[in-house]
Amino acid sequence: MVVSAIQNGTVIDHVPAKQLFKVIQILGLDHIDNQITFGTNLESKKLGRKAIIKISNKFFKDDDINRIALVAPDAKLNIIRDYEVVEKKVVEVPDTILGIAKCMNPKCITNFEHVTTRFRVVSKKNVALKCYYCEKITDQENLQII
Ligand code: CTP
Ligand code: ZN
Repeated sequence: MVVSAIQNGTVIDHVPAKQLFKVIQILGLDHIDNQITFGTNLESKKLGRKAIIKISNKFFKDDDINRIALVAPDAKLNIIRDYEVVEKKVVEVPDTILGIAKCMNPKCITNFEHVTTRFRVVSKKNVALKCYYCEKITDQENLQII
């Protein structure tokens, strides 16, 4: 165990190393007071290099945690109580995405006015997001997290 065990909280495992800081940003971990430990560039057979994040005394709502699925679709959550893993969960791409992603259409209102982006997820596997405002599709390749 590279990063020490926690007593209570959430362990997010199998985050691609490259997406660690995006996950931190999406979950707002830079704004909370909980104890957080993480390891990155750890060996993983599946992901090449993975990161792991441990947040003490924090239990996320499914809707909040699922927001990371856009950047870490294979993330595994472990809920820890009294040092024991009491639950394991996977993340699921939500049906709608508020904020997080940028619309790839340069003419979209969200790119020149102060409007929160809003998308309907039209494909979950190879993520494709349809903009609520301009109806253009932003695909995985063009996905930019804001
Ligand atoms: N963990 C932790 N603190 C604990 C218990 C577990 O930080 N008190 C972490 C472990 O380090 C591991 C994850 O939670 O990264 C899952 O723990 P466990 O299910 O025991 O590990 P594995 O069997 O390796 O699980 P998996 O194969 O699902 O990753
Ligand atoms: Zn748009």
